[in-house]
Amino acid sequence: MESTDHMRFFAVPVVLLVLSFLFLSSRRRRGTLQLPPSPISLPIIGHLHLLAPIPHQSLHRLSQRLGDIFSFRLGSVPCLAVSSASAAREILRTQELAFSSRPMSKAVGYLTYGASGIAFAPYGPYWKYMKKLCMSELLGARTLDLLLPIRRDEVVALVRTLYDMSKEGRTTVDMGGELVRLTNNVICRMTMSRRCSGTEGDLEEVRKIVAGVAELFGKFNLADYIGICKDWDLQGLDKRIEDIHRRFDSMMERILKEKEASRRKQGGGMKDLLDTLLDISEDASAEVRLSRHDIKAFLLDMFVGGTDTSAITMEWALAELINHPNILRKARDEIEAVVGKKRLVAESDLANLPYLQAIVKETMRLHPTVPLIIRQSSRVCKIKGYDVPANTTVFVNMWAIGKDPKQWSEPLEFQPERFTEVGGHNVDVRGQHFELIPFGSGRRICPGTSLALQLVQSALGALIQCFDWEAEGGGTVDMAEGLGLTVPRAKPLVCTPVPRLNPLPLD
Ligand code: HEM
Repeated sequence: MESTDHMRFFAVPVVLLVLSFLFLSSRRRRGTLQLPPSPISLPIIGHLHLLAPIPHQSLHRLSQRLGDIFSFRLGSVPCLAVSSASAAREILRTQELAFSSRPMSKAVGYLTYGASGIAFAPYGPYWKYMKKLCMSELLGARTLDLLLPIRRDEVVALVRTLYDMSKEGRTTVDMGGELVRLTNNVICRMTMSRRCSGTEGDLEEVRKIVAGVAELFGKFNLADYIGICKDWDLQGLDKRIEDIHRRFDSMMERILKEKEASRRKQGGGMKDLLDTLLDISEDASAEVRLSRHDIKAFLLDMFVGGTDTSAITMEWALAELINHPNILRKARDEIEAVVGKKRLVAESDLANLPYLQAIVKETMRLHPTVPLIIRQSSRVCKIKGYDVPANTTVFVNMWAIGKDPKQWSEPLEFQPERFTEVGGHNVDVRGQHFELIPFGSGRRICPGTSLALQLVQSALGALIQCFDWEAEGGGTVDMAEGLGLTVPRAKPLVCTPVPRLNPLPLD
C-alpha cells in the first residue's frame, strides 16, 4: 500500500515533466511557420493513438477543442483536419489546385496497380484522360440516359424479390445485402453487360472484395507512417492486401478473357465500357495506351466507388424512415399524389418529388458514406491564415460539417423539412454549397454523383411506394456506426417489408 503511494508521488511530476517537454518541443518545431494548433503528440507515433476507434468521430471531438482547422501527425506524416464549411471551401475551391491529389498508402498502391485508374491517380494528364473517358463512356448524362433501362430493370427485380420473399407471410430481410446486390448488378451491367452477382457465390465474392478493399483503404497502416515499421507487417495487413489483390485480379482476368473470347466470336455488335477500354488498349494511336492494369484499376474504382457507397446510403435512409414513420408516410403521400398507385415510381418522376429528394439529402448530411475527403497538398500554402507545408495529408471532415450547429439547427435530428420549407436550406449536393458536400467538390468531385442520385432516389422511392417497413422484432432500429472508409451501419439492417401495393407490370 505504502509503496503504491510512493509510486504515485513520483509518477505525477514525472508525467508532468514529460508532457511539458513534449509540448515545448512541439512548439519549437513550429519555428517561424504559423502552423495551425495541434494536440500534444507522442514520440514516434505522433497522434496516431488519437484517431481510434472511428477516425471521423475522433477528429470531430478534437476539433471541438482545437477549432475548425488543426494539425497533427500520423507517425512522421504531417496532417491537417478541417471541419467547417468555410475551411472546406478554401481547400476544395479557393486553393483547389494545391490540393488536387491524394496521398498514396501501401494498400492503395498495391490494390490500384500503382495508382492506375481514377480515384488515386495523381492530378495530371493521365488522371485527366481517365476522368474524361469515365464521363464520356459511362457516367455522363448521355450514357446515363442510354443505360436507364438497366437501372429500371434492377429496381423492378429488387421489388419483385421482396414481394416473393414476403409471399409466404412476414419475413425478415437483410436489406444491406439486397441493396448491395442492386448496386452491384447495376455497375456490372453498365460496365460489362453482365451481372457479376449471377450466382450467390459470385455475389458473395464481389461483395467481400469490395468490402475488403474499402476496409483496407480506410485502415491506418503503421508501415505508411512510421519509418521503422516500413518493412514489418505488425498488423498483418500485408497478407490481407495481397490476398484481396490476388482475388480481385483473378476475377478480372476471368472476366477479361471471357470478353475477349466473345469479341473474337461476334466481331461487331453493341459495345459496352469494357469493349471501349479494350479497343483503346489495342489502338496504337490512342492518346493514352491503356494497359491491362489500367483497365482493371478503372473497374476497381467503379466497383469500390459505386457499389457500397450507394447501397449504404439507401440502408441508412431506410433505417431513418423506419424510425420516423411520419416522414415515411409523408414521402408516400407525395409519391401517390404524383405517381398514383398503378405504376412504379420512375426516374422521370424525381424532379416532381422534392420531399423524397430532401430525405436523401438529409440522409447524406447525417450519414455521409464517405465521411472524410482525403487530399494532399502539392506545395506550401496558407489556409485561413495558417501555413500548410507541402505533402500534408488533408482530411476534410464532411461528417462533422454536416452536424455543425453553426450551419444547421437541431443538427442531430433527421428533418428533411429543413430543405423543403420556405426559408429553409436551399442547397444541392453537387459541390457548390460547402455545408453539404457528400460527393466532395472541385476537379476531384465524385464522377458518379448523377448515377448515385438517380439510383438512390428511385430505388428508395420504390421501397417507400410498395412496402410498409418494420424493424426486426418491432421497435426502432439501432443507428450506431461501424468501421471502414465508407461508414457502414454497425448492425446490418434486418427488417420486414410488408407489401402494400403492387404496381409492377405482370411477368
Ligand atoms: C452515394 C453514393 C456516393 C458517394 C456518397 C460518393 C462520394 C464520393 C466522394 C466524397 C469522393 C471524393 C471526392 C473529392 O475528393 O472531392 C468520391 C470520389 C469518387 N467516386 Fe464517388 N460516391 C458515390 C457514388 C459513386 C459512384 C456510383 C461511382 C461510380 C460508378 C463513384 C466513383 C467515384 C470515383 C471514381 C471517385 C474518384 C474521383 C477522383 O479522384 O477523381 N462514386 N466519391
